[in-house]
Amino acid sequence: MKDEQDILPITLPGRSRPRRMRRTPLFRQMVAETRVVADQLIMPHFILPSDHGLQEIGSMPGIYRYGIEDLLKAVEKDRELGVRSVLLFGLPEDSDKDATGACAHDDEGPVPKATRELKKRFGDDLCVITDVCLCEYTDHGHCGILDEVGVNNDQTLPELVAMALCHVAAGADIVAPSDMMDGRVGAIRDALDESGYESTPILSYAVKFASGYYGPFREAAKSAPGKGDRQGYQMDCRNGREALREALLDVDEGADMLMVKPALPYLDIIRQVRDATNLPLAAYNVSGEFSAVKAAARNGWLDEARVVRENLLGIARAGADLIITYHAREALAGRWL
Ligand code: PBG
Ligand code: ZN
Repeated sequence: MKDEQDILPITLPGRSRPRRMRRTPLFRQMVAETRVVADQLIMPHFILPSDHGLQEIGSMPGIYRYGIEDLLKAVEKDRELGVRSVLLFGLPEDSDKDATGACAHDDEGPVPKATRELKKRFGDDLCVITDVCLCEYTDHGHCGILDEVGVNNDQTLPELVAMALCHVAAGADIVAPSDMMDGRVGAIRDALDESGYESTPILSYAVKFASGYYGPFREAAKSAPGKGDRQGYQMDCRNGREALREALLDVDEGADMLMVKPALPYLDIIRQVRDATNLPLAAYNVSGEFSAVKAAARNGWLDEARVVRENLLGIARAGADLIITYHAREALAGRWL
């Protein structure tokens, strides 16, 4: 048995005590280096071709596929919480899909229709960003046009250009190409400029890794490739220097904002892109990152509010200015940040 007097008090040699400024909640609030506010959050939405519809996605509790009327209602409510920008993904009818994804630039498709309605209702009080990629629109589920060897880069570019123009004509505030074809930012920039849309920004998914974390999204969007995977066009998770190369190429091609995706396994990349460029930087906290937290929280294994706060603040601390996240609504409603 140890006697109490055996434990000798130690006097700190220096004067530094970081704990002083952690003593009260107000102290901690005053010296917080990172904050996340509503204006930094972008809420993704999946849009059905119908006027009405509200289908919860099995692997993403609380996230729905919306018919356009139901989307308007959800966006209205989210705006009251402070969510002022949305990222739209279209879910066309299976019967409209073909090998080239031609319905991706149909004016009456779900994204152009929803964009027109959202802009009519909310005007400049809502920032409508549209995802530009063919995988939700092709019958094979790849992000571009297939040839004998794989996804043909240069044949895909005109389709992406047509899709971006269609979205902008419908009123999209920002287009966000997520396909990972080489040269698409420059091609879209030129086409927008030639069509009088020189003021419309491009948010480039500049650094998009081939990731297992996209699983729930592919269930939500029914966009899993039928054969093969996306490793021939999305980035290899082992590469950091290549990520910088991708980012700098998109800066050269005229991107207005850059994105790193997914977010949590790639915080080092977010920091490096932040330090290497001066463009606003977004990070996509993707479907699988959301679902993993939800599943653990539902089992009582994690405290959802704490973990979401820690994840979103970590992404911001790494250097992201904007965060695309399915947690946006609940994080603001619950005051988790
Ligand atoms: C389409 C696209 C994907 C995501 C965003 N745009 C899926 C993919 O590349 O397979 C993933 C988003 C998410 O997982 O939340 N190119
Ligand atoms: Zn795609």
